[in-house]
Amino acid sequence: MECFEITAPGSLVRTSRPDPKPGPGEVAIRLAAASLNYRDLMIKNGKYGNMRLPVIPLSDGAGQVVATGEGVSRVLVGDRVAGIFNQAWTQGAPPVHARALGGDMDGMLAHMVVLPETGVVRLPDSLSFEEGATLPCAAVTAWNALFVSACLKPGETVLLIGTGGVSLFALQFAKMAGARVILLSRSREKIDIIRSLGVDHAIDTTQNPQWEGEVLELTGGRGVDHVVEVGGADTLPRSLAATRHQGHVAVIGVLSGGEVRFPVFSLLARQIRLSGIYVGSREHFEAMNAAISENALHPHISRVFPFAEAPLAFRTMESGDFIGKIVLSFDR
Ligand SMILES: NC(=O)c1ccc[n+]([C@@H]2O[C@H](COP(=O)([O-])OP(=O)(O)OC[C@H]3O[C@@H](n4cnc5c(N)ncnc54)[C@H](OP(=O)(O)O)[C@@H]3O)[C@@H](O)[C@H]2O)c1
Repeated sequence: MECFEITAPGSLVRTSRPDPKPGPGEVAIRLAAASLNYRDLMIKNGKYGNMRLPVIPLSDGAGQVVATGEGVSRVLVGDRVAGIFNQAWTQGAPPVHARALGGDMDGMLAHMVVLPETGVVRLPDSLSFEEGATLPCAAVTAWNALFVSACLKPGETVLLIGTGGVSLFALQFAKMAGARVILLSRSREKIDIIRSLGVDHAIDTTQNPQWEGEVLELTGGRGVDHVVEVGGADTLPRSLAATRHQGHVAVIGVLSGGEVRFPVFSLLARQIRLSGIYVGSREHFEAMNAAISENALHPHISRVFPFAEAPLAFRTMESGDFIGKIVLSFDR
């Protein structure tokens, strides 16, 4: 497993526009599928900071290249591709100003998009368009947290929170790397389902709201090596308590809120490393795709809706009645 060094600055690029004819360096993509992330729900509900609205939603989509502009050399007409989340981050260090699809710029809830050739990756041959459309945000985030920020090693223990997109990709990647996984869920029913996906220990946090004690017990009092922290306000203090001396917490999400109080002394005394994660680069995406192909991984998709039912897909995400990913398939 390779760990990546953040080296060179990314470059700013231009993205989709109403005219589907690609200009120099651009590719036109006929989208076949898209997927939802919690971020899309926050944007729709006006809870994602100061956004320039209206915007075409969704960061994640996959399809086929139907035309290429002058000078395009990275992809060919007919290639199966997905857009990268942050169009400004191809490799090296993240740029200061993100240009994220479905937020800073129009996204993938569209039949046709035009993106710079630098803003797309080829899909693994083993994945359908629906599967490929789940990768740009949740999967790359989980990859970055575990293999770039954490440098996860076989035998280490990872704590995951919930059964949504980021956590289920993190589960698959952690098991692929030979790690042990403790997963929290608020639902007994979901726990019964995810046991079959390789979770080593699942904790029902409805039954046990002070779950950090159980995590410590499961690790012999030591604490976990890494946390993929998607919960925020309610979970971060408990995650820190459940982390070992010199452990690592990848700070990713705000499911329970973004304002957190935690004991700073405990953090510094145990020298825990907190890393802020914002998805990842094209370089991370391509490394992840190689691992997905090599290990024959398939994303966990629990709900698929046709394009016209996008509003229902958003309501389903809001209800929490799903595991893994919710996908829109444009051919249905
Ligand atoms: N920083 C980044 O780059 C980045 C990238 C992707 C996502 N995110 C953030 O990470 C978080 C997860 O995103 P996602 O797309 O994976 O979400 P998701 O697919 O909607 O999954 C969320 C899951 O987490 C659990 N959950 C929901 N509310 C919770 C709460 N209040 N406390 C604890 N668990 C809760 C639920 O699982 P159970 O029902 O099993 O408990 C739910 O199914 C979001 O805050 C999102 O904005 C950040």
